[in-house]
Amino acid sequence: GRGGYKHFMLKEIHEQPRAIADTLEGRISEGRVLPAAFGVNAEAVFKTIKRIQIVACGTSYHAGMVARYWFEDILRLPAAVEVSSEFHYRNPVLEEGTLLVMLSQSGETADTLAALRMVRVRSPQMPILAICNAPESSLVRESDLVLMTHAGPEISVASTKAFSTQLVALALLMLSIGRIRAILSEQDERRIVAGLEKIPNLARDALQHDEAIMALAERLVDKQHALFLGRGVMFPIALEGALKLKEISYIHAEGYPAGELKHGPLALIDENMPVITIAPQNDLLDKLKSNMSEVAARGAELFVFADERSGLRTEARLHVLPVTSHVGRISAPIIFNLPLQLLAYHVAVLKGTDVDQPRNLAKSVTVE
Ligand code: M6R
Repeated sequence: GRGGYKHFMLKEIHEQPRAIADTLEGRISEGRVLPAAFGVNAEAVFKTIKRIQIVACGTSYHAGMVARYWFEDILRLPAAVEVSSEFHYRNPVLEEGTLLVMLSQSGETADTLAALRMVRVRSPQMPILAICNAPESSLVRESDLVLMTHAGPEISVASTKAFSTQLVALALLMLSIGRIRAILSEQDERRIVAGLEKIPNLARDALQHDEAIMALAERLVDKQHALFLGRGVMFPIALEGALKLKEISYIHAEGYPAGELKHGPLALIDENMPVITIAPQNDLLDKLKSNMSEVAARGAELFVFADERSGLRTEARLHVLPVTSHVGRISAPIIFNLPLQLLAYHVAVLKGTDVDQPRNLAKSVTVE
């Protein structure tokens, strides 16, 4: 059941601290990732890989986009990510030394399975790793290596805890490859693992902003459109925030890398186009702030999900929600995504849509 919550989505949002802890459980020991976490064959496979190709749909695709930044930035390992339906049909080059990583909550998404089967036929020796939430699924059965996310059943069509746990699983994958390939020092591995272990508590704190988020939702509920902006690892989080909002509230929402603003979307900005920015404290914050001034100058109402230390204060048409001040490179996208889930949820509740079963959508998309 819904365990006292009004919707499965809200229940699943609040399950995230537990789901993240469960996904870490048994994969870490004495501050390091267990080499056996990905199965007995993983070590031999990881030793040979030169690059990562991630394939997924929807929210799972956004998790893959986040991981691409980590693999390249932290491991210096080339990583690509693509939606399953495009990867499947564009006749991609399947280079030797690639690890194919399939992400799926359900493990039954038709496009993702079709992409996997295409690779099996065209490049039978390519190792395939599944990160999945459904142990009995086709994806798990057909992959060589598996890391289960331990989110527990996700009922709401809008994916929430599956995303957070996929990111944790991808961080474990990054650490495991970094260790086996001797790319990461033991010290760096321990530092990142310690950061991962803090995420459940950080998530619990970040989910305490319900009242402030409801106030923001009231300002968004009558809007026709919304633009989500982020930079770096927060660009996929902007996409995910926009997907969640459009999916359950039916407000047209787009996510953009903030640096692309002047290359088109700035033309949309006027007082009727709310702009939501994801603004943790990092070396891109100043650039993001200048993007915010550009939209503010055109009359847009701004909703900023910020670090507590950002120095930004709520005023007239600038609404600042201080999310946290304790995140690092790995935890930031996971934590900053949480209030965006709540925002979409509260807007949908105010609009009176069917939150758990949005129109036209299915939980698991089993036809192409
Ligand atoms: O089960 P999967 O992770 O393969 O599903 C992929 C997408 O269909 C899914 O994430 C979809 O985009 C969600 N409804 C988004 O909330």
